Amino acid sequence: MFATAAAAQNVVGNAAAGKQKASMCIGCHAVPGYRTAYPKVYHVPKIGGQQPEYIIAALKEYKDGDRWHPSMRAIAGSLTDQDMADLAAYFGGHKQ
Ligand code: HEC
Repeated sequence: MFATAAAAQNVVGNAAAGKQKASMCIGCHAVPGYRTAYPKVYHVPKIGGQQPEYIIAALKEYKDGDRWHPSMRAIAGSLTDQDMADLAAYFGGHKQ
């Protein structure tokens, strides 16, 4: 078990909590494999093993509209800072 402090705020990510929340991500960001089969097969960026800070920053960019992708904007928009930190701790903890 390990914790990751999110850069800009005092939210500490919990990998175990992130694993619970990751069920909504792995359909697209499957670990391993990271490609989706619906509605057609297309590549999805690998997020397992990324730096937790990078994952949090990317999710905030989708939520804030600085990055544009319909699926990720919808998903990131539903996440709290705590959710993002937990997910980052979980995905960032994968060694691939
Ligand atoms: C419907 C499929 C889908 C789901 C579900 C999904 N993603 Fe994504 N995700 C994508 C796609 C496609 C991209 C690439 C979008 C782009 O080109 O900007 C992406 C991009 C990302 C990125 C940026 C990666 C990079 O290298 O820049 C992160 C981080 C990410 N997703 C995290 C998550 C997390 C965390 C969840 C669950 C809460 C999730 N995604 C759920 C499809 C999905």
